[in-house]
Amino acid sequence: MDKFVVRGGNPLLGTIRVSGAKNAALPCMAASLLTTAPVVLENIPQVRDIETERRLLASMGAEVELGYGRAQHRTTLCCARLESPEAPYDLVKTMRASTLVLGPLVARCGVARVSLPGGCAIGARPIDLHIKGLERLGATITQEHGYIEARAQRLRGAHVVFDRITVTGTEDLLMAATLAEGETLMENCACEPEVADLATLLNKMGARIEGAGTPTIRVHGVTSLSGTRHRIIPDRIEAGTFVVAAALTGGDLIVSGCDPHHLTALLDKLRECGVEIRPNGDSVRVIGNGPLQPADVNTEEYPGFPTDMQAQYMTLATQAEGSSVITENIFENRFMHALEMVRMGANIKIEGRRAIVRGKTPLSGAAVLASDLRASASLVLAALVADGETIIDRVYHIDRGYERIEEKLRSVGAEIKRIGEMFPKRITVPAGRG
Ligand code: EPU
Repeated sequence: MDKFVVRGGNPLLGTIRVSGAKNAALPCMAASLLTTAPVVLENIPQVRDIETERRLLASMGAEVELGYGRAQHRTTLCCARLESPEAPYDLVKTMRASTLVLGPLVARCGVARVSLPGGCAIGARPIDLHIKGLERLGATITQEHGYIEARAQRLRGAHVVFDRITVTGTEDLLMAATLAEGETLMENCACEPEVADLATLLNKMGARIEGAGTPTIRVHGVTSLSGTRHRIIPDRIEAGTFVVAAALTGGDLIVSGCDPHHLTALLDKLRECGVEIRPNGDSVRVIGNGPLQPADVNTEEYPGFPTDMQAQYMTLATQAEGSSVITENIFENRFMHALEMVRMGANIKIEGRRAIVRGKTPLSGAAVLASDLRASASLVLAALVADGETIIDRVYHIDRGYERIEEKLRSVGAEIKRIGEMFPKRITVPAGRG
């Protein structure tokens, strides 16, 4: 298991480039199940979740080519023959987004078998809204042996109002509705840029979708979809993580290849904290040249402050001159990083969904454990400002969603390296001791 060794204290200086959005690439890859023709996706991030999805699609009979050399971030997916429309437990348990194949599979094959994902480090995360939506479109759902099976001769358009806003639930149903008979009206949809990006791809494939990126989406079903080429949007959470890293370390960093409009809630919050932010086309310059001011944060669905930036913001709050209250409204158990930050010297009190962070506290390097993707990112950020050396264990979490983060951070001045298993598996006790 790899670890990161980080020595804190360096401001981040220079330019850092953002990769394609993992959370847009995953549904776009699943969308290739809707057609027999090849779909070419560009700007695919090289992260572990993409490899998991490749394996998932390949296990069903899809041909998935990942590009090399100059075509490194391109993938060509061809789902001409689908042998088994099934997402097995082995893959779903490592990546919940595997459930995104449910809608497209039942729409294309008339049947889909998907393992139920079970619990998760950040919350219960059920998929009842995906299931309810598909039932509204006429699918019959049964559950047995930890799997759900969806069946439908052909899905039928319907009026679906989501009980609560769900990102992958909106995406799952959107894909299903493209091949349904008649019109589907979806309300209370997620407005995330990743949903809009998926709709852009689907429309290029011949779907007829209006309103994606707003709470109301209308889909006119078509009988078949074709192949196309599409460039995935930049990763707003990776971009946001670098923006916070620059602010925190008192750096002067250009975060390039991003869409600053997708970062509005975060950038506004950082301005409130006294950080100088200068968006310019597809980049943002961040100048962290003064003391950080505290500011409260409430996580919300897009365009609100993203839950996926909550942990990284918490690191920043530990370095602000005063108290900040961070309220997590999306997931019920997303403060695991706080306990690790406390071990590094932070003053954080958790009260239900609220974390009260009292700054500014010096952080000191320690051995810490990453519990999920964004928690790991927040610990890397904490390590960048900590005194001495921090060893972050279980960085496989960060590899799920950040492409070569240690190389990117090193290129702008951070002292961070990846190491393999540090200790021998069996610890031998010297004779005469123990
Ligand atoms: N929910 C239900 N029932 C459902 C679906 C969701 O109760 O059927 C609840 C969830 O338990 C949660 C809330 O609704 O409390 C929102 O969950 P949502 O479905 O929107 O989350 P998701 O689609 O599973 C995506 C991202 C997450 C991100 C959330 C929220 C992908 C692949 N994942 O998850 O990304 O945190 O939206 O923005 O798009 C990450 O990248 O680190 C990550 C966790």
